[in-house]
Amino acid sequence: MHFKKNILCIGAGYVGGPTMAMIAFKCPQYRVTVVDINPERISQWNSDRLPIFEPGLDEVVQACRGRNLFFDTDVEKGIREADIIFVSVNTPTKTFGAGSGMAADLQYWEKTARQIRNCAESPKIVVEKSTLPVKTSLAMERILTSDGDQIYFDVLSNPEFLAEGTAIHDLEEPDRVLIGSHKTERALEAREALVEIYANWVPRERIITTNLWSSELSKLVANAFLAQRISSINAISALCEKTEADVSEVARAIGMDSRVGDKFLRASVGFGGSCFKKDILNLVYLCRFYGLIEVADYWEGVVRINDYQKDRFVLNMLNAMFNTLAGKKICLFGFAFKANTGDTRESPGIFIARELAEERAELAITDPKALDNARIDLADLGEQIAYVEDPYDAAEGSHAVAILTEWDLYRDLDYERIHGSMEKPAFLFDGRNVVDHRRLFEMGFNVFPIGKAPLTHF
Ligand code: UDX
Ligand code: UDX
Repeated sequence: MHFKKNILCIGAGYVGGPTMAMIAFKCPQYRVTVVDINPERISQWNSDRLPIFEPGLDEVVQACRGRNLFFDTDVEKGIREADIIFVSVNTPTKTFGAGSGMAADLQYWEKTARQIRNCAESPKIVVEKSTLPVKTSLAMERILTSDGDQIYFDVLSNPEFLAEGTAIHDLEEPDRVLIGSHKTERALEAREALVEIYANWVPRERIITTNLWSSELSKLVANAFLAQRISSINAISALCEKTEADVSEVARAIGMDSRVGDKFLRASVGFGGSCFKKDILNLVYLCRFYGLIEVADYWEGVVRINDYQKDRFVLNMLNAMFNTLAGKKICLFGFAFKANTGDTRESPGIFIARELAEERAELAITDPKALDNARIDLADLGEQIAYVEDPYDAAEGSHAVAILTEWDLYRDLDYERIHGSMEKPAFLFDGRNVVDHRRLFEMGFNVFPIGKAPLTHF
């Protein structure tokens, strides 16, 4: 079959894989190839067990894999054949040198830019999918054109706003698609080529175009604003616990103001995920770089409150349980950074498990999708941690259950049975406010929600 254009994506991760699968699904006239330097990842994408768990992803991949969606390890061949190249390699927080712990590590991204330049034999549109510091596309252009300008590259910015667990829905019905470009005639043509792809399923009015720098910055700012809402409500949750106000009632009352809106106001044990912390620190670093110290401090506060919230959760457990956890079995319900994903990157669970282990508690961790990742994250803790599929088995004999992920499953468990199998007094720390606190209290649990007065039998 003859395809209208060849699309390549470099980086078959959480973003590249599902995004390309959706483009292939919606646009049978394009040939979409996803490449990755990790051959293991590629073979998983080509198998029945995809490397990431995402509701609805299997169906989309099955519908187009082998038709117009291909997963491959040959990056160079992919580059030669492509008309449009999405770059979706990871840009983690730097762990060395200047900006260590704050700035984005651009080494993979830059290597990829050089590889594109070295392999390309015809003009390409290069699309930044990875989240990057503002002005990175300028560096991309400079690398791409440093070979004497024989081949023309157009660089576009097209950040991805999908959230894990709802990726397929977010891709199918995005609130908006954002495309940044220069304003030259050529650049506008390249932009139109990308608009044309999305327009196969996204209404035109939801495809917005800006200059390159606004597009790059908007991605960082979108995540900073979302995370800020969580830190705001989490900060208030601490005050609620002191004053007998109820954070869910407060969230409802303020969220009904249409100027505030009701989403992303769920108080929790803290936000996790690969993006929020990384992107805020990246923003903070940029502000410092430009000498905007007050602005940097303001945004850094969002991360500080998140650390405080996780700390507070562990200290509350310690205080409630008579200031000693040594030798006590504690069961963690959930380890993923949110429900409906197996991803544990920056999950509050990692921090909390480590703090509890430090207190010499014995831990049993259960999660329907994230146990494999949990084992890797906590490998160095060895025997101190048991990984248990079944939540009832995990809770048996424990002094406390702490709910860290809002899986639906944990709402509907037989808590009478769990209570019956636990040491007494039995504690329940609900880091997501998902269970019926009053009912569990009446069963005999001492219940500690987030942002609400505890219900105890003492
Ligand atoms: C990545 C970025 O980290 C994020 O900032 C951006 O918003 C979207 O893309 P994600 O897809 O979650 O996020 O990253 P990850 O799941 O780690 O996938 C990146 C993939 O790129 C990995 O499979 C890795 O093997 C691959 N890669 C990395 C390459 O193919 N080439 C490289 O040089 C480096
Ligand atoms: C986020 C952004 O939502 C997405 O647009 C961007 O592309 C990537 O980063 P993601 O990290 O997958 O997506 O998940 P998200 O649903 O935003 O949740 C992030 C964290 O915040 C999770 O740990 C979640 O549990 C927590 N959260 C979310 C709260 O604690 N309270 C809330 O009200 C909402």
